[in-house]
Amino acid sequence: MSMGADNAGLRVAVIGMGQRSAIARHVADATATDPALAARVVAVADVTAAGRERGHAEYPDAVVVGHHRDLTGHVDAAIVTTPDWTHAEIAIDLLRAGIAVYLEKPLAITVEDADAVLNTAAETGTPLYVGHNFRHAAVVRLMREVIARGEIGEVKAVWCRHFVGNGGDYYFKDWHADRTKVNSLLLQKASHDLDVIHALGGGDTARVVGMGSLSVYGEVTDRRDRSGELMGDWFSHDNWPPLAQTGLNPVVDVEDVSMVMMTLDNGVQASYEQCHFTPDYWRNYTVIGTEGRLENIGDTGGGVVKVWTHRRGWDTAGDREYPIDGVEDGHADADLLTMTEFLRSVALGEPAELSPIAARAAVAAGALATRSLRTGSVPIDVPPLPAETIAHFTHPTTTHPAQTVGS
Ligand SMILES: NC(=O)c1ccc[n+]([C@@H]2O[C@H](COP(=O)([O-])OP(=O)(O)OC[C@H]3O[C@@H](n4cnc5c(N)ncnc54)[C@H](O)[C@@H]3O)[C@@H](O)[C@H]2O)c1
Repeated sequence: MSMGADNAGLRVAVIGMGQRSAIARHVADATATDPALAARVVAVADVTAAGRERGHAEYPDAVVVGHHRDLTGHVDAAIVTTPDWTHAEIAIDLLRAGIAVYLEKPLAITVEDADAVLNTAAETGTPLYVGHNFRHAAVVRLMREVIARGEIGEVKAVWCRHFVGNGGDYYFKDWHADRTKVNSLLLQKASHDLDVIHALGGGDTARVVGMGSLSVYGEVTDRRDRSGELMGDWFSHDNWPPLAQTGLNPVVDVEDVSMVMMTLDNGVQASYEQCHFTPDYWRNYTVIGTEGRLENIGDTGGGVVKVWTHRRGWDTAGDREYPIDGVEDGHADADLLTMTEFLRSVALGEPAELSPIAARAAVAAGALATRSLRTGSVPIDVPPLPAETIAHFTHPTTTHPAQTVGS
């Protein structure tokens, strides 16, 4: 098996050729727009024949294999876009094989597995990057800038309401609806926002309480196994109202409405609410500081972040209003920034803004909130990571062999 010469740039594999594998197109985009980068997709791994066919179609020159272990020795880096429950095992295998890892969020579906991945990265010194692309979204950057400028004083509370309007199509018609595959949607879907709550609040969750239920989709009895299909095959805004949905996954046992309360390790108080049967699809943050409050209206290009800094009654205008840049739908701009950051960190050894420690903090908040909500809403404290693991990611001391590739 030949996957290209070492001196022609970073050799990248895509593992899991499903809906999200589209982010691997940004390898070519990043290489085309960033003169410091040379990287190309040379291999695809997917356990299904349909996935391997998609691999051949998208990357006709790439080698297509059935198992990620077949990539050992042939690639420098891998983009892992497989379902959540496979993340830890695949990442650990790749890290041990010396293959730099871009792992889709969530890092893992339990705290124990998340820690095993981070500990392996620390032991092996192989680069690990977790694709928390939402941190690079324009709305998040804008809110962080407002906070960093001190416009609302010292942050004391962060609240996020998440209206997952496409929830029925995105999360209840395949593996996402099954606890054994995702743990919960508080982990699978909320990991983006739990991560951003940590970024806005300036701390990680230390104690968490959860509450929630399967309130709507459990009543839909029309079920079917959609093996071989991808979400794009069944998605439609016409699938409305939620109780009229058909063809849900045979197993539906994750919550479709849930709430989390968090105390961050710096004392900031936070909450997150997620609902999968709203008509509209966006998230609304409020950050309250000692001198004001911000709130986003819309979370993509065309939306705004408003800031209130004077006392009054209700007033939708705010004192200041900042437009949100970026794409008006989806997150292709954040995805390109994220992929570029990963490739630069592997090829050039640059420090990445996204941190695996932060990805672990998001898993801990989501997984322990889920445990709390399923066991009578007891408060649960987040266990610490081993000090050596924290030290590894805080003060990286290793250099990946790929940093000399193509340079
Ligand atoms: N960051 C984001 O904005 C974002 C958006 C969507 C999805 N995701 C993440 O991407 C991941 C994939 O989601 P998706 O919607 O593409 O799923 P999907 O079901 O559409 O595709 C998964 C693919 O992985 C393959 N696969 C399964 N197990 C495998 C294994 N062990 N080895 C190799 N291939 C395997 C499947 O055959 C399929 O082709 C999930 O973890 C999800 O959380 C992230």
